Amino acid sequence: MAKLPVKKLLVTGGAGFLGSHLCERLLAAGHDVLCVDNFFTGGKANIEHLLKHPRFELMRHDITFPLYVEVDEIYNLACPASPVHYQFDPVQTTKTSVHGAINMLGLAKRVKARILQASTSEVYGDPEIHPQSEGYWGRVNPVGPRSCYDEGKRCAETLFFDYWRQHSVRIKVARIFNTYGPRMHPNDGRVVSNFIVQALRGEDITVYGDGRQTRSFCYVDDLVEALIQLMDTADDFTGPINIGNPREFTILELAEEVMRLTGTNSKIVFRPLPADDPRQRQPDIALAESKLGWRPTTELAQGLERTIRYFQQAL
Ligand SMILES: NC(=O)c1ccc[n+]([C@@H]2O[C@H](COP(=O)([O-])OP(=O)(O)OC[C@H]3O[C@@H](n4cnc5c(N)ncnc54)[C@H](O)[C@@H]3O)[C@@H](O)[C@H]2O)c1
Repeated sequence: MAKLPVKKLLVTGGAGFLGSHLCERLLAAGHDVLCVDNFFTGGKANIEHLLKHPRFELMRHDITFPLYVEVDEIYNLACPASPVHYQFDPVQTTKTSVHGAINMLGLAKRVKARILQASTSEVYGDPEIHPQSEGYWGRVNPVGPRSCYDEGKRCAETLFFDYWRQHSVRIKVARIFNTYGPRMHPNDGRVVSNFIVQALRGEDITVYGDGRQTRSFCYVDDLVEALIQLMDTADDFTGPINIGNPREFTILELAEEVMRLTGTNSKIVFRPLPADDPRQRQPDIALAESKLGWRPTTELAQGLERTIRYFQQAL
């Protein structure tokens, strides 16, 4: 059987939650992986097991500054993803999305690399339609506390499409919906890690609002699989494409499932909803199904069990 060509791949944000899983999978597929990260929210612990790998390289670098390397493909994941982290230094968050996109697109143009953007369901804002398909333009507040992230990511998408139209850069834009799994930050305020950490510590489980707002949760392995398949699509396919799990759960259902799986004695307490918190978020993944032949296969209970096991060790 002919050997697959080894590709030189750049993963920005490679020491983060999603990035570290992606690096792992790309190495396992036989490629050279250059992981670039400024360690703002990611850490060496996430990629420690890869550091001795002969095809893995780590570079500390902030993508708001230009980068000159020779690569075949770029996965642009660098950006803090949880509200606590992206609101910590909102100007830097916008810079990471916008200047980061300009720098990575400039690199892709120069070395003729394919480039994939980790965009987000947040580009839909607080949507008026459910589920959200890629044709929906979104309802985003441009001046709120979440805007640094939402508008930064929207502008990054604009830049991707302009580099494609203007410079024929080969782009792929993935709109990622809530993803969870091992190596999430224990205290980044995201709902899955919040609930698991609170349950394992026996603390109250905080539900914002009445808990009837819904979310869909995609397990990290399913997500990474979709990103790799998207990168491998033909040049004329750019996306944007929704990647996520369409199965909806209320926040209250998630809390109860975490309590059941951890066997905790914690109690649920209710707190006011934060500003601009979307009431419902559910991907329409028809395009991913038809274009990539992909749909998530990990059940919530199965993914939660693996994530709980990780947090039991990490805490
Ligand atoms: N996890 C999700 O549910 C989700 C959902 C939608 C979109 N995304 C997107 O996927 C990407 C990865 O998210 P994640 O959940 O792994 O978050 P994460 O915070 O764990 O990872 C982001 C990584 O980027 C690094 N980083 C941040 N700013 C940087 C900069 N200026 N230069 C270099 N590195 C920088 C961080 O140190 C971190 O390692 C992000 O772009 C995020 O917006 C994630």
